[in-house]
Amino acid sequence: MNLALYREFRPRNFDEVVGQDFIIQTLKNQIKTDKLTHAYLFCGPRGTGKTSTAKIFARAVNCTHSTDGNPCNMCAECVALNEPNTDIVEIDAASNNRVEEIRDLREKVNFPPLIGKYKVYIIDEVHMLTDSAFNALLKTLEEPPKHVIFILATTEIHKLPATILSRCTRFDFKLLPMNTLVEHLKSVFDKKQIKYDEKSLHLIAKAGEGSVRDMLSVADSVASFCNYDITYENTEKVIGLSNKDSIKNILLSIANNDINNLFASIKMAIGTGKNIQVLCKEMADFIKNLVLIKVGVNDYTILDILPGEFSTYLDISNKFSIDYLKRAFSKFASIELDLKYSLNPENLFESACLELINSLPTQAQNALTPEPTKAAQPTQPAQPTPPAEPIQHETQKVEPKAQTEIERLWGNVLIKVKENNMFALFNALKNVNKVEGIANKLIIHTNDLSSYEMIDNPDRLGVLCKLANLFDESVHAVEILYDKDTASTQDIKDNLKEVFKNKIKFKE
Ligand SMILES: Nc1ncnc2c1ncn2[C@@H]1O[C@H](COP(=O)(O)OP(=O)(O)OP(=O)(O)O)[C@@H](O)[C@H]1O
Ligand SMILES: [Mg+2]
Ligand SMILES: [Zn+2]
Repeated sequence: MNLALYREFRPRNFDEVVGQDFIIQTLKNQIKTDKLTHAYLFCGPRGTGKTSTAKIFARAVNCTHSTDGNPCNMCAECVALNEPNTDIVEIDAASNNRVEEIRDLREKVNFPPLIGKYKVYIIDEVHMLTDSAFNALLKTLEEPPKHVIFILATTEIHKLPATILSRCTRFDFKLLPMNTLVEHLKSVFDKKQIKYDEKSLHLIAKAGEGSVRDMLSVADSVASFCNYDITYENTEKVIGLSNKDSIKNILLSIANNDINNLFASIKMAIGTGKNIQVLCKEMADFIKNLVLIKVGVNDYTILDILPGEFSTYLDISNKFSIDYLKRAFSKFASIELDLKYSLNPENLFESACLELINSLPTQAQNALTPEPTKAAQPTQPAQPTPPAEPIQHETQKVEPKAQTEIERLWGNVLIKVKENNMFALFNALKNVNKVEGIANKLIIHTNDLSSYEMIDNPDRLGVLCKLANLFDESVHAVEILYDKDTASTQDIKDNLKEVFKNKIKFKE
């Protein structure tokens, strides 16, 4: 049975929101002194309270018996606003991201509220709006009717245009520290009369990695597995079981083209009640490590693995080509958000794995051509030197060494971008499909239009050039090309107008 603790324990007033003290105090003060602004931006990592706070705020500004800025949850307004209603409009920008939807919103905002003083529009995952939808939203944000408050929420603040940012009062939700998570978990378990020991509490809180929702999802799995009497041994089993071992099994089944085993491995991974979105994120992280190892990274701290785990990663990475791993990485990174909104996340995850098995022929083909990027590790036994000159001549023609160096250089640039906390750029760079070195220029290709638009900026290209130059002095420029041929037709159709407007360069 799944308890869905995170649903049951959604905070209903400001005082129940854990950890975001500064934000909560500021919002309460604004309500108490009636100094509201008409657009708020709630940003920060997932599962830290953005949507919950937005909903509390929407009731609080309309509550007629509010105390200390909190909604009373009892007055007619609070009760009506707690049910589905027309005055609190939640828009999920992940699925309603087109300009038509925002135009529709612009018409509807003019109607006055039916229940209380304010209509509140909560636009979740606002970074998913298209450029034209952003422009339409901007017009509304410039002159909103007095009875309207917008709350935009996002996990990816860097994807928002500056014009939107400058019109909102911004609040940054933070990941929660361990002790706050432990305290919160304790109170949830006590209220549910679930038995636990201190060590298990810490282990579960740690697995949440700062997110209350992720922590409560893990707590759900552990509690069900332990039949509500949590022991450390069982906690370890559930948390340990669902992570790397399952991912390893899934990847090995894919490598062996073994569909039966693949389904069995997926079942084992999620059979413990593991949150599929978390599993998918871990899968993407795992594959990212495989890519990094392929390009020669062997620093445990960069890979964020234990020293003893390196050989396992290396073994698995040797079963795939780098292109294949890159594709697998972007697949899992891209379905992570879809999983959150999917009615059947299990199917979505399984179909992503199946798609990877189906694309194995390319991988097999790659395996026939010796991989130039077998990162030479100190632990690897030395390969006997092949004596055959003609073969060497053959290989020199296609210059595999040059490409290896470029892949390695690119891997190092990516690491530097991440180390310097340029997350926006890092995320966009994940969509780079190909890197070429021509003369002293590094040319990167992407078929993702929004990543292209993000990267194609003189400052950002300049930063990339500087970073590349750290590793290879001969690099004097970095250029990005948008590969429209490989972009999906839908993308192209959707963006055709913007393409011409923004004078985007296409690869010839
Ligand atoms: N600060 C918090 N205090 C108490 N509970 C929280 C907090 N943050 C998250 N939760 C728990 O996680 C659940 C989801 O939280 P919420 O939807 O507010 O997160 P979010 O920041 O909007 O996440 P996302 O970015 O994924 O949309 C809540 O129902 C609640 O159980
Ligand atoms: Mg949310
Ligand atoms: Zn009320």
